[in-house]
Amino acid sequence: MKKAIYPGTFDPITLGHINIIERGLRIFDIIIVAVARREEKNPLFTVEERVELIRDVFSENERVVVKPFDGLLVDFARKEGARIILRGLRTVADFEYEMQMSLANKKMNPEMETVFMMTEGVYSYYSSTLIKEIASLGGCVKDMVPEKVEKAMISKYRR
Ligand code: COA
Repeated sequence: MKKAIYPGTFDPITLGHINIIERGLRIFDIIIVAVARREEKNPLFTVEERVELIRDVFSENERVVVKPFDGLLVDFARKEGARIILRGLRTVADFEYEMQMSLANKKMNPEMETVFMMTEGVYSYYSSTLIKEIASLGGCVKDMVPEKVEKAMISKYRR
């Protein structure tokens, strides 16, 4: 069983993340979507809400497992029996940060490998922050997030 871990804050999950997961499933048998709590990012959705929104997207696919995590990613990966981290690269701007993270993770656990996939062009400028800003100002994010996520954002911003 080839198992990969796809970590992120996912506040909220976007079509860009989904694209990476779907393409990752062509390479890996199981993808564990690891949802980092990251209170320091002051997320719009609680970690439980983020997990629920992602589970809803992949409810028909038992090869995608969604779990929250705290602490170091390498520790969580070890606990889950995964030695591959899957990451998306959007533009060259992601490269330095990603290289730093992959080297740091490898230093902490030499058995850990990071596999990068290029995010498909149409999603390469997406970020959760950008999408939240558009939604908070009443803009349309239909082509950027699943319908349920769009509704959840609208309801958060209405409050
Ligand atoms: N499509 C669209 N958007 C994408 C994307 C894609 N394919 N890939 C990334 N993004 C966006 C994310 O939505 C996020 O947007 P935001 O900053 O506006 O919220 C942004 O790009 C950055 O994403 P990412 O690099 O995945 O950051 P993150 O905060 O989501 O995740 C962790 C970072 C959780 C993986 C990392 O901090 C971690 O491993 N933390 C655990 C603690 C740890 O082990 N630290 C040591 C690490 S060496």
